[in-house]
Amino acid sequence: MSRFDGQTALLTGAASGIGRATAILLASEGANVVGCDINADALSETEQLIVDAGGVFTPLTVDIANRSACQGAVADAVAAFGGLDVVGNIAGIVRHEHVADVTEEQWRTMFGVNVDGMFWMSQAAIPHLLQSAEEGKLGNIVNIASNAGLMGQAYTVNYCATKGAVVNLTKALAMEFVKTPLRINAVAPGGTDTNLVANFKMAENIDFDLMMRYTSSRGMSAAEDLARVIAFVASADGKPFHGAVVSADNGITSG
Ligand SMILES: NC(=O)c1ccc[n+]([C@@H]2O[C@H](COP(=O)([O-])OP(=O)(O)OC[C@H]3O[C@@H](n4cnc5c(N)ncnc54)[C@H](O)[C@@H]3O)[C@@H](O)[C@H]2O)c1
Repeated sequence: MSRFDGQTALLTGAASGIGRATAILLASEGANVVGCDINADALSETEQLIVDAGGVFTPLTVDIANRSACQGAVADAVAAFGGLDVVGNIAGIVRHEHVADVTEEQWRTMFGVNVDGMFWMSQAAIPHLLQSAEEGKLGNIVNIASNAGLMGQAYTVNYCATKGAVVNLTKALAMEFVKTPLRINAVAPGGTDTNLVANFKMAENIDFDLMMRYTSSRGMSAAEDLARVIAFVASADGKPFHGAVVSADNGITSG
């Protein structure tokens, strides 16, 4: 018996990085994975990798900033597999910029993806996850925060604000459902070797000393490292976690 046999997991950000690695891991452990992402081509690559390995993967091209698209994705997952047991809100975007350079449009776009999308997906999924948990299945949400949600970082005020919101959104949801078996947690990675980092465009004229404060001397994690943490929290092994923010940042926020 694998940890995710007979469970359906909807994962956002499944086209790349931590989301793709989590999709591959959960599918390899028996989950029916519904992968949501705005990047249809890269989502097809995830599908190919999983199907070639004998797993079950349904790609859905979704802009998670759009509430009705999130509602549609949850409805599609439930229609295809008869329920929903795990939601991994993994998709996210980042920018590196001076405070003065943040535009209104960029500010709202980042909140739309990193916070609104997470909430719309959770709101649509919760009735199904609650039913899953009440039936003794996994019934839980794992939100991806960041060390940036637990500390102040220079040149990423917009990102830090969204990830701080993810931390408290997770705790608020956890409190509202604390008397039910539904579990809601967050994992807070630090630097992880993904496209988000590879495509990271640093602001000009920055003080590197300020950046070193959020760079681990232990280096970066691999996406697969984070996938294993997410899987642990989402699996029955993670049963005691509820309202937790699990730091997985190689010590960045330890002091
Ligand atoms: N990589 C890091 O160093 C790091 C550190 C801390 C936290 N995180 C968080 O981990 C999560 C995953 O990041 P990653 O490093 O794997 O990044 P990534 O760029 O490799 O993957 C992010 C995925 O999100 C998708 N996405 C972006 N906007 C979307 C939208 N509107 N709708 C649907 N999908 C959308 C992208 O297409 C992409 O496939 C993010 O929430 C990120 O903030 C990453």
